[in-house]
Amino acid sequence: MTTSSSYPVSPGPSATLALPRIAVLATGGTIAGAAADVTNTSGYQAGVVGVDQLLSAVPALSTVARIAPEQIASIDSKDMALPLWTTVAQRVNTLLAADDVDGVVITHGTDTLEETAYLLHLTVKSDKPVVLTAAMRPASALSADGPLNLLNAVTVAAHAAARGQGVLVAFNNRIHSARDVVKTSTYAVDAFQSPEIGALGWVQDGRVDIQRAVVRAHTLTSEFSIGTAWPAVEIVASYAGVSRVAVDALVAAGVRGIVVAGTGNGSIHQALQQALAEAASRGVAVVRSSRVGSGHVMRNGAAADDALGFVSAGALNPYKTRVLLMLALAAGVTGAAALQKVFDTY
Ligand code: SIN
Repeated sequence: MTTSSSYPVSPGPSATLALPRIAVLATGGTIAGAAADVTNTSGYQAGVVGVDQLLSAVPALSTVARIAPEQIASIDSKDMALPLWTTVAQRVNTLLAADDVDGVVITHGTDTLEETAYLLHLTVKSDKPVVLTAAMRPASALSADGPLNLLNAVTVAAHAAARGQGVLVAFNNRIHSARDVVKTSTYAVDAFQSPEIGALGWVQDGRVDIQRAVVRAHTLTSEFSIGTAWPAVEIVASYAGVSRVAVDALVAAGVRGIVVAGTGNGSIHQALQQALAEAASRGVAVVRSSRVGSGHVMRNGAAADDALGFVSAGALNPYKTRVLLMLALAAGVTGAAALQKVFDTY
C-alpha cells in the first residue's frame, strides 16, 4: 500500500531532491541543552534547544538528506516516562510505514538512551534505518559534540548498509547496535560503548562502514509490539548487607516482574534470594542480570535457576532486561521456561 507521512519535509535546493528523506524526531537531552557560559558542561538545562535550531547548526545535513524535523518532546531523559515511550514508538512506526520516509533519527538524552533504543529495536516494524544519537556536552558548549553526532546519525540513517540492522546508535563516530550499547561514563564524549562485543562499525567524514551484522531477533522478526499497557516491573540490586525489604514491598505493591542487578554472574545475597524465590513461587517473574557492566549471566550459574524459578538475562544489563521483561509480560508470556526462551532469543 502506498502511504504518505503527510510530513512537512524541509524544502532544500532542487539538487537535493534525490537525497533520502530522513525524519528527525527530537526528544530533548543534553544535545538540546543550553548553559549561560560556553565552559559550563555540567550545570546546564537539558532539552531547551528546539529541533530547528539543532538542525540549523549543521548546514552539511542538506548534502546528506532531506530532513523532516519534529519536536516530539523536550525532556531530560532521566524523566523518560512509559507513555512517552509509547508515543515515540508509535510515531516511528507511522513514519516508517510511509513511502516518503526512508529512515528516522531520534535525538535523545544520553541517560536513558540505551533503554529507548532497545525498546524501539524490539517494537519497530520496519527494516528502514532508525538511528539514535545524543551528546555529552550541551549545544552551548565549546566543542559541543552534538552537531557532528547529529550529522553522523543522519548519514547512517541515509545509508543502505543501515537497513535491516535493527535500531542503531551513532555516537562519537561509532555505530552501535541498540542491544549492545550502554552509557559508560558520566562526562566523557566517548561515553557509549558496546562492552565485550564492540561496535558494529563506524561513520566518519560521510563514510559509513558496518562490519558485522546483528544476529539476534529485532524489528521485523520481533514478536513484540508497542502498546499502551506496561506491566509493573522494577529493579532491585544485590549488595553487601542487603535486606529483603525492597522485594517484599514490591510484591505487596503487586509488581508483575522483578529484575535483579546481581553481583558477578547475577549471584544474589541469600536474604534477597529467599525473598525472590518466594516472589517467584507467587507468580512474579524474576530475572537475574548483573550489576558488573559487561559479560553474561549464565543460566543455573550462580543460582540454581531451575529450582528457584528464576530466569537468566544473558548479556542484557538490568535496564534493558526490564524493557524486554515488560514487553514479554505485556504480550502474555508467563512462566520461567517461556520467559527464558524470550531472553535466549532477543
Ligand atoms: C539527558 O539524558 O537528557 C541529560 C543528559 C544527557 O543527555 O547527557
